Amino acid sequence: MRVLSGIQPTGRFHWGNYFGAIRQYIDLQHGNEAYYFIADLHALTTVREPERLRQNVVDAALDLLALGLDPAKAVLFRQSDVPEVSELCWLLMTGTPMGLLERCHAYKDKKEKGLAADAGLFTYPVLMSADILAYDADIVPVGADQVQHIEVCRDLAGAFNHHFAETFVLPKAKTLDASAKVPGTDGEKMSKSYNNTIELFEEPKAMRKKIMRITTDARPMEEPKEPEGDHLYQLYSLFASDAQREEMAALYRRGGFGYGEIKKALADVAEAYFAEARAKRAELAADPARVEQILADGAEKARKKASATLKRAQRNCGLK
Ligand code: TYM
Repeated sequence: MRVLSGIQPTGRFHWGNYFGAIRQYIDLQHGNEAYYFIADLHALTTVREPERLRQNVVDAALDLLALGLDPAKAVLFRQSDVPEVSELCWLLMTGTPMGLLERCHAYKDKKEKGLAADAGLFTYPVLMSADILAYDADIVPVGADQVQHIEVCRDLAGAFNHHFAETFVLPKAKTLDASAKVPGTDGEKMSKSYNNTIELFEEPKAMRKKIMRITTDARPMEEPKEPEGDHLYQLYSLFASDAQREEMAALYRRGGFGYGEIKKALADVAEAYFAEARAKRAELAADPARVEQILADGAEKARKKASATLKRAQRNCGLK
């Protein structure tokens, strides 16, 4: 299987990114042909300070490598290093109905809030489709919020294949049942734009502070509670072993505990969970030239694949 996914360098990665997507990248690099990229072209729709964008890309690469992405197994690259994708994006754009993009949630949500949207945000799912189709991806590991975009990709690829000739592979989204929508500190989806994130490599003290601020219901501590549906329990479950999770569920059902205790348990498991990656990250950060080299090697491999797809598409639609 060919696997592909992208992640935006809009800030430091959070628990939602890891448990929804990055963990899948790491698992799927074994036994598959895997391509993972840092979506800097997409980030440009929100990050408008050049220095910050550059730094975010480096941070993103460091995070991914520290978490276990192995450049000997998977191709890691910067989206903008493969200009073929932007060209493919245009080919797809010429056959994209406006209505399809008007229904996409990123644009729709912004518009409904009365905020000004630009063409980059509006056409964002087309660029994402080009990202996926350029590498003939079969599987796209993502969180639930990206599934709609992959449906758009399938629509655009199907329409192109139908109108011209068989050109693109139709991809499938892959989500994890238990963590396709990781909740944030307020119980809504964890997202930078909701200001409810806990970052993967946050300083332990700052992380504890955020965990202590996770919202809880106002029922008295003595009352037994159903763990399912409680976002604090959901977050704890991400890190816990089966035995720890069952123990916590039993505690909820028995009642007589304080949320503070659970938050402390969550902070302990979370800190231990990322300790090894944190140390590895510090090591990698000391050698920026190596990280640059990994991205350059990745770009070379990615371009090879993307340019073959672009040529096929150009031929089939009459440009070549
Ligand atoms: P982005 O950068 O917003 O998020 C990266 C990945 O993290 C997942 N994710 C979550 N999963 C579970 N719970 C959450 N709270 C949570 N928050 C984020 C996202 O679903 C995503 O998988 N458009 C993409 C980037 C992209 C892309 C692509 C992805 C560009 N081209 C091609 C796949 C294929 C995005 O904005 O993800």
